[in-house]
Amino acid sequence: MARKVIIDCDPGIDDAVAISMALFDPRIELVAVTATAGNVPAEQASRNVQAVIERLDPPRFPRLGAATFVEGCAGTDNRLMHGDDGLGNQGHVISRLHHQHPSEKVICDVVRADPHRVTLICLGPLTNIARAFQRDPELPVLVDRLVISGGCVDGVGNVTAVAEFNMFFDASSARTVFRSPVTKTLVPLDVTRTVRLTLDFLDRLPPETTRVGGFLRSILPFTYRAYRQRLGQESILLHDVVTLVSVLEPALFEYTEMSGDVETRGELTLGLTVFDRRHSPQWRANMDVARWADPEKVIDCMVNSLSLAGSATAGE
Ligand code: BDR
Ligand code: CA
Repeated sequence: MARKVIIDCDPGIDDAVAISMALFDPRIELVAVTATAGNVPAEQASRNVQAVIERLDPPRFPRLGAATFVEGCAGTDNRLMHGDDGLGNQGHVISRLHHQHPSEKVICDVVRADPHRVTLICLGPLTNIARAFQRDPELPVLVDRLVISGGCVDGVGNVTAVAEFNMFFDASSARTVFRSPVTKTLVPLDVTRTVRLTLDFLDRLPPETTRVGGFLRSILPFTYRAYRQRLGQESILLHDVVTLVSVLEPALFEYTEMSGDVETRGELTLGLTVFDRRHSPQWRANMDVARWADPEKVIDCMVNSLSLAGSATAGE
């Protein structure tokens, strides 16, 4: 039976690829997509979620949740890597911005409607999840599992020397979520950065004539260009897509139970994910952490899932 899923995200090109997969993969029933500020500001993130879904036009539209302003966050975004509009500056348009409830309300409603059966896949900063838990304090034990894209175990960050973007952007929400009793899995940078996509990945995408193929071929070249121009790298990382694959095919990953927390005050270490790795840990284990993935098989999973999406969006 397909697993009921909410994707909470900040599109962002890798978020958009993950949504494209999840909308059509038969292993998932995507019941809601909720936007959060992160790679782009709140209103743009909400527009982007709507733009991706309208463009792909799936047979069943998920519920959408709107991002709202985040106070006191780290005040950074990732437009250099994702484009000014977050989707590679391709001029994606929406019919008109639908009235949407705030993301945290949608999350609460969907989980309450189906207790213990909804997986929440978090591909952006954890603002909405912390707000949802504040709004409904019982929610953490009603979520089946929270799967979080972000953090790093080895202490090598991607936005500061030690912090990963999603954790840094709203470190206090990340800490709230890490400390909550929700069952959770972390898919950190240590693992997502082992899955490198060389240029030939573009040749393995569905044909341009399909809605998914056309969309991905319009946004992904921006990522290859940004990696080459900004980082001097010829291959790219799609962190959030790797995280989605961990839900589709968990057997491609190895996990360890760990105890993690997030630094919320450090001058140099804001957003650092800290794990008690002492010989005799003093903190209680609070999450499963992905420690290894099979890169080739993860990429095959992406290609196969996207090929299903291509077939579902061919024609007309
Ligand atoms: C994360 O940061 C964002 O730019 C990506 O979308 C991903 O969620 C990786 O650090
Ligand atoms: Ca993201």
